Amino acid sequence: MPPITSDHIIELANAFRKAKAILSAVELGVFSALADGPLEADVLRQRIGVHVRGARDFFDALVALGLLIRDRNGAYANSQSSDHFLVPGRPSYIGGLLNHLNSQEYPSWGKLTGALRSGRAQFGNSEGGPYQDLYDLYAEPNATAEFAAAMTGGTLQAARSLAHKFPWSRYKTFIDVGSAEGCLPVEIARAHSHLQGGGFDLPAVAGSFNRYVHQHRLADRLRFFPGDFLRDPLPGADVLVMGRVLHNWDLTTKKLLLTKAYAALPAGGAIIVYERLIDDDRSTNAAGLLGSLNMLIMTTGGFDYSGADCTQWLLDVGFRDVCVEALTVDQTSLIARK
Ligand SMILES: C[S@@+](CC[C@H](N)C(=O)[O-])C[C@H]1O[C@@H](n2cnc3c(N)ncnc32)[C@H](O)[C@@H]1O
Repeated sequence: MPPITSDHIIELANAFRKAKAILSAVELGVFSALADGPLEADVLRQRIGVHVRGARDFFDALVALGLLIRDRNGAYANSQSSDHFLVPGRPSYIGGLLNHLNSQEYPSWGKLTGALRSGRAQFGNSEGGPYQDLYDLYAEPNATAEFAAAMTGGTLQAARSLAHKFPWSRYKTFIDVGSAEGCLPVEIARAHSHLQGGGFDLPAVAGSFNRYVHQHRLADRLRFFPGDFLRDPLPGADVLVMGRVLHNWDLTTKKLLLTKAYAALPAGGAIIVYERLIDDDRSTNAAGLLGSLNMLIMTTGGFDYSGADCTQWLLDVGFRDVCVEALTVDQTSLIARK
């Protein structure tokens, strides 16, 4: 037997340091400063406005974390993945997600113990009061656009995967329910020129959606459907998608949303749910379980769930032929038919 060590425990206990290093690097604009090529340490330091004391350790830590490369002359450059995903303005930019994690989730996770003790959300407004509903945050200046951009960062790979894995040629219309700025509708419409559809979301999201769709020159095929899915019926289409929406809500609301989707679909229509699913045995997918604790911290009743859980809810509201399939390492889809 190998000797028992504390390595795993020490690594887990220090994991927040790695997270904060990448989040601060995005916040400080390290990757955009290096977008046009390598920079000497002192030039980079001045460009992003950090004190000389921590600069060298910070840049070298980013090298050790695989986010930067240091050349023979000591100049720093973006690694391939940093350059692809963390330079603002690139089509594959996901920095909006990291900005959200840095400004909203990281401080809220400092209150995990309180959330566990009280069972209550710890996510609040700028005056420190808790939100009744996570989406009350849209009342804060710039929050809607920032949140919508964060959603694009978290959903882009799943959207691209779904564009290829689902038999879209059999359908003519689709609507993404809880679309944020429209990352998923844009990716699906780009890959399938015969499709028409759009995104359904709170009216506050309209500006972000219209801007994003317009940027991708898809306004002729994708439109915004404003509404409140807690109060209003869902708009009809051949396919309805709910990506990372159900986990925000308690069980009653999850089932209400699936029931509304069933009502809005024609016979033969399809629903696609995707989420960071918890494994059915609830013992191996730490990311899914931690994602559910994130819902404890950020929402009043939300929780994540397994493929078996959601399959049962879909069958309960009348769907059939439920199929569970991985989209990415992180996200799994459940597809069912009416
Ligand atoms: C966690 S985000 C997921 C966004 C996107 N589907 C994705 O995967 O990136 C949930 C979305 O649901 C929307 N939403 C929240 N409450 C809503 C409501 N009552 N009616 C309609 N949309 C709502 C939010 O505005 C947000 O865009």
